[in-house]
Amino acid sequence: MDAVPDSRADPAGWLTARLGGPAFGGDYNPEQFQHDPAVRREDEELMRRARVNLVTLNVFGWAELEPEPGRYDFAALDARLERLHAQGVAVDLATPTAQPPPWFGLAHPDALPVTADGTRLTHGSRDTYCLAAPAYRQAARAVAEALAARYGAHPAVALWHVHNEYATVCHCEHAADAFRRWLRDRYGTLEAVNRAWGTAFWSQRYGAWEQIQPPRATQWRPNPGQVLDFRRFWSDLALTAYREQRDAIRAHSRVPVTTNLMLPGYQVLDLWAFGREVDLVGVDHYPDAPGLDAAADTAFGADRARSFGGGKPWLLIEQATSTVYAGDLVLPKEPGDILRHSLSHIARGSEGVLFFQWRQSPAGAEIWHSAMVPHAGPDTRIFRETVETGHAVAALAEVTGSTVRARAAVLHDPDVWWALDTPVLPTPELPYLPALKRAHRALWDAGITTDFAHPSADLSAYRLVLAPSLHLVSEESAAALTAYVEGGGTLLVECFSGAVDPHYRAWPGGAPGPLRPLLGLRAEEFRPLPSGAAVTLTDGGAGATWTEALLLEGATAEIRYAEGTLTGRAAVTRHALGRGAAWYASTRLSPASYTALIAGLIRASGAEPELPALPAGVEAVRRHSADGRAYLFLLNHSPAEVRVPVRGHDLLASRALPPEGAVLPPASATVVREES
Ligand code: GLA
Repeated sequence: MDAVPDSRADPAGWLTARLGGPAFGGDYNPEQFQHDPAVRREDEELMRRARVNLVTLNVFGWAELEPEPGRYDFAALDARLERLHAQGVAVDLATPTAQPPPWFGLAHPDALPVTADGTRLTHGSRDTYCLAAPAYRQAARAVAEALAARYGAHPAVALWHVHNEYATVCHCEHAADAFRRWLRDRYGTLEAVNRAWGTAFWSQRYGAWEQIQPPRATQWRPNPGQVLDFRRFWSDLALTAYREQRDAIRAHSRVPVTTNLMLPGYQVLDLWAFGREVDLVGVDHYPDAPGLDAAADTAFGADRARSFGGGKPWLLIEQATSTVYAGDLVLPKEPGDILRHSLSHIARGSEGVLFFQWRQSPAGAEIWHSAMVPHAGPDTRIFRETVETGHAVAALAEVTGSTVRARAAVLHDPDVWWALDTPVLPTPELPYLPALKRAHRALWDAGITTDFAHPSADLSAYRLVLAPSLHLVSEESAAALTAYVEGGGTLLVECFSGAVDPHYRAWPGGAPGPLRPLLGLRAEEFRPLPSGAAVTLTDGGAGATWTEALLLEGATAEIRYAEGTLTGRAAVTRHALGRGAAWYASTRLSPASYTALIAGLIRASGAEPELPALPAGVEAVRRHSADGRAYLFLLNHSPAEVRVPVRGHDLLASRALPPEGAVLPPASATVVREES
């Protein structure tokens, strides 16, 4: 038998050794049923059927745990842990700090969050706290400490789950004080802040630290440098709050500690920074679209989660058995989706799949949120698919610890996200998330396994790197990207890049600022297009939203504008540099043009798909073990039966594949230990 890994050196390895395979389970909240023993007995039986081995407890348990200030009542939690342990189910134990009890807000009204327009929120929902309020931080640390002291060595506890989806942002006086301290640390002098933010504009010059406010509601446009710094500050504050709880837990426990990061639509946190501080990355993922878009979004979320942890195994802490708000709608997942989405996460490095939540809540704000056991009970399609998924996950024990190898990357920088969010842009139609998704989707459609990377990272492992936007760029990132291309890489940068520096100040000499030698061009003029307008290009394609008048300084025009003022001038360029090439698209290419350009870059760069010539809607991803085994995950999202000529052992069916390879019925999946 292999030695159990050390929980500090290899947290994910320790967790899966402790569980005997990948994790399977979800948030478990028997308190929502007043601890009804009949429901509890049925839960035990159903968890056995579904092969649940890990449940998340206590996420919103603060009011039950500390019914009055300073008086902890552990009785219910003690009993729950004992019972689960006896049942053979391990516990992901949460600190309940995402919602303080009602008494807390009454005792500490200054710890309730204030919106940008000055409204102080009150309890009655959730996530109602201010991370900058001393009373909140003290109470959060204390409850984490109390839990760790009591359960730090409890044999049921296999993972610590700090807080829940850090996302609440506050604009109160505590936030203002903490922001000023952060600015002092970062800039040293008030003069440096004034320079960075360009406060000479509109008479904003600060003469004393106390004059600086969080970006509260203003008469018109706020200062973009201030907005950007506040977002950085808030992410740093959340990370400090996380570390405080983590360290309080570590003082009593060697069990790995993480938090469930919210993906992918919110960007309150710098997820690279969190990835460095958690023992293993934990994320929640809810595709908000049905069909193939959900499959692509699942891959998008999973690839991000893996990347934020530097490629190490990670864990999906929440998903749902339905979509969660496609617009205003909750849509069903169709038959087979739950299994395929789950396997997509595992294919991309997750060491299991957990759901929100085990049993649908009989009351409360999420009464209609889906669950593994619906209101209609276990004799339902959803519970049957839950059981099927649990069995599939259990068959993948040998896959744990293996990793994913990507040959392409999409650049992801929280500073760019926040910069493109500032309300001072010449167009609101170039937001970051859709651009990131489009780049990832183009590679996903081509069957290419993709990482995300920070633009300042060492990118030499990748054949192809897509930068959907580098609107804000630092000298450091420009140098890293130049080294990548000179070393033989292929890079595509998209429009409105290199426009501002990390303080949101225009780069002197205009765009693309420090990317100018790399791209071999400069933009003499930005020419945004009216909403809905398009411009034709010489390859027969089109651009929209944005155009630029480029002056080439070494780059060659690959595609030109074919109408309007820019007729005949470069639209898409290529600059050969060192052993590689840097491409620039100065307009937002139409879907067909974009797909065609990416197809060309894939061919030119040698970034190969995981399996060649797969039919549309069929996904293939491999995990590789340290001892040379390869696990091929095949997900058929299409309505047709698909044959894939591969040799090896089918782990889900537990038998050798027939000589003709894997046969996948519509909407099905398989996992193959490949024969080398
Ligand atoms: C988040 C929360 C859960 C639940 C789900 C609903 O991920 O962590 O408590 O509200 O959303 O999708």
